[in-house]
Amino acid sequence: MQAIRAGLNSAKYAYKTPESAVDYLVVGGGVVGLAIARCLSQRFSNQSTILVERHPRAGEETSSRNSEVIHSGLYYPPDSLKTRLCIRGREMLYDHFPSHTRKIGKLVVATETQRPYIESLHKKAQTLPWPSSFTTPPDRPALFTRLLSGEEVRRMEPNLSDDIVGALFCPETGIIDSHSFMESLEKDIVDSEGDLAYSTRVVRVDPATDSSNAGPGWVAQVVTEGATESDAIFAKTLINATGLSAPLIVNSFLPEAKRIPIFYARGSYASYSGPGISGISHLIYPCPDKENHRFQGLGTHLTLDFNGKVKFGPDVQYIFPSEDAAPDPDFWSRYLVPDDGRLAEMHRAVSRYLPGVKLEGFQPDYVGIRPKLVGPQGGFQDFVFRTDYPDDTRESQHSPLVSLLGIESPGLTSCLAIAEHVVENILADVDRR
Ligand SMILES: Cc1cc2nc3c(=O)[nH]c(=O)nc-3n(C[C@H](O)[C@H](O)[C@H](O)COP(=O)(O)OP(=O)(O)OC[C@H]3O[C@@H](n4cnc5c(N)ncnc54)[C@H](O)[C@@H]3O)c2cc1C
Ligand SMILES: *[C@@H]1O[C@H](CO)[C@@H](O)[C@H](O)[C@H]1NC(C)=O
Ligand SMILES: *[C@@H]1O[C@H](CO)[C@@H](O)[C@H](O)[C@H]1NC(C)=O
Ligand SMILES: *[C@@H]1O[C@H](CO)[C@@H](O)[C@H](O)[C@H]1NC(C)=O
Repeated sequence: MQAIRAGLNSAKYAYKTPESAVDYLVVGGGVVGLAIARCLSQRFSNQSTILVERHPRAGEETSSRNSEVIHSGLYYPPDSLKTRLCIRGREMLYDHFPSHTRKIGKLVVATETQRPYIESLHKKAQTLPWPSSFTTPPDRPALFTRLLSGEEVRRMEPNLSDDIVGALFCPETGIIDSHSFMESLEKDIVDSEGDLAYSTRVVRVDPATDSSNAGPGWVAQVVTEGATESDAIFAKTLINATGLSAPLIVNSFLPEAKRIPIFYARGSYASYSGPGISGISHLIYPCPDKENHRFQGLGTHLTLDFNGKVKFGPDVQYIFPSEDAAPDPDFWSRYLVPDDGRLAEMHRAVSRYLPGVKLEGFQPDYVGIRPKLVGPQGGFQDFVFRTDYPDDTRESQHSPLVSLLGIESPGLTSCLAIAEHVVENILADVDRR
């Protein structure tokens, strides 16, 4: 079970002297990179921001292959970045993007033996404070939940199993149309004069220490689809929001022993049409199995999209590169094709709470890959914001490379708060040194 510790394959590209310069270069056009570029271009209108994305469109990787659930912030340790950024991000999404979000609520359903689990989640929710990022916290609990009896929850969702004896109702949970949301982020960036460069891949990053003209910073070499030559861009500050590829840039200049390991956990979805889901109007989550560690995934749950389409997923399946070949950092892309090998197990998992569903109604839908910093037995792992500098000089402290690592769920929910954290805390801190 090998983790990948690869870096960018920079050897193919010789160092080039930069022909252009930018204040902020954001690498990666998923929800996180877009939210950061939006925040930068709105906040620093007198400085330049460019976002580069290797695919022809935004969000082609993990940002379009997830459950599209706005999480409430229930599951992670109370003082973790995941909890704080999730709660903050959730509120920002509902407030700023009302037409792309819908607060439909979720039910975590429990059998008799699982009752203590929902009771402990409820107890925890009662004590969660509003994160300090709220200067004037709303006049309501940060995370409202209510315990329901089996009868109460079956009144809300009549097709739930009689084995379900209770549920935790979480009205703050919702859904988001991630595609229209990303289009809005793009529009905001362009409106505040940020630049978006698609079909453009960063192939090499070098720290720039010579202070000949612009001072310290980073030289990023990019290749644009269809161009014969690469371009080198000098960036005063580089933000690495490349999701599954995020460790590659940092690893390219770290010694082997210090490199960041990356694990990949595949999650498959099945669409469903058939009996056993009459009038479903809430997201429905099972309690995670004891054996199946709850930090790895939340169990095969039911989600609804904006068109009312029902899907089940995602399951958790760690994937590993082949041992023999030099590991290809993009090996995971071969696993994006959904297959029907997961359907029987999914049907079994869902039948425990929705006994009327039929295997024939499950169709493979899509697959997403979680960027994991820990392996299958790893336990809780928070988001990581790593800062590197071109060298040890004082000057260079103004030119960070900020890498966002392990931005798995709730990364979509948190993206606006992640952007705020990077811009207002990490970069503001840098400027004050
Ligand atoms: C199965 C699954 C279910 C999930 N469910 C939820 C959920 O319900 N709610 C929730 O809040 N979160 C959920 N998440 C998490 C959420 O999807 C991610 O946290 C979020 O999409 C991460 O966004 P990102 O911008 O960091 O990464 P990405 O979307 O992966 O974006 C990174 C971008 O960088 C680009 N890139 C990479 N390398 C380069 C390069 N060298 N040059 C240029 N561009 C490059 C890529 O093409 C990609 O577009 C889920 C994740 C998975 C896998
Ligand atoms: C940009 O504007 C801010 C105020 O909005 C100012 O503090 C800062 O010095 C300006 N930066 C540059 C590079 O002009
Ligand atoms: C981004 O960060 C990741 C994770 O550390 C690293 O592997 C990757 O090389 C970085 N990319 C850039 C462009 O710095
Ligand atoms: C689902 O609920 C509907 C409406 O209450 C009911 O007619 C149907 O029999 C239920 N099916 C199952 C499998 O519980």
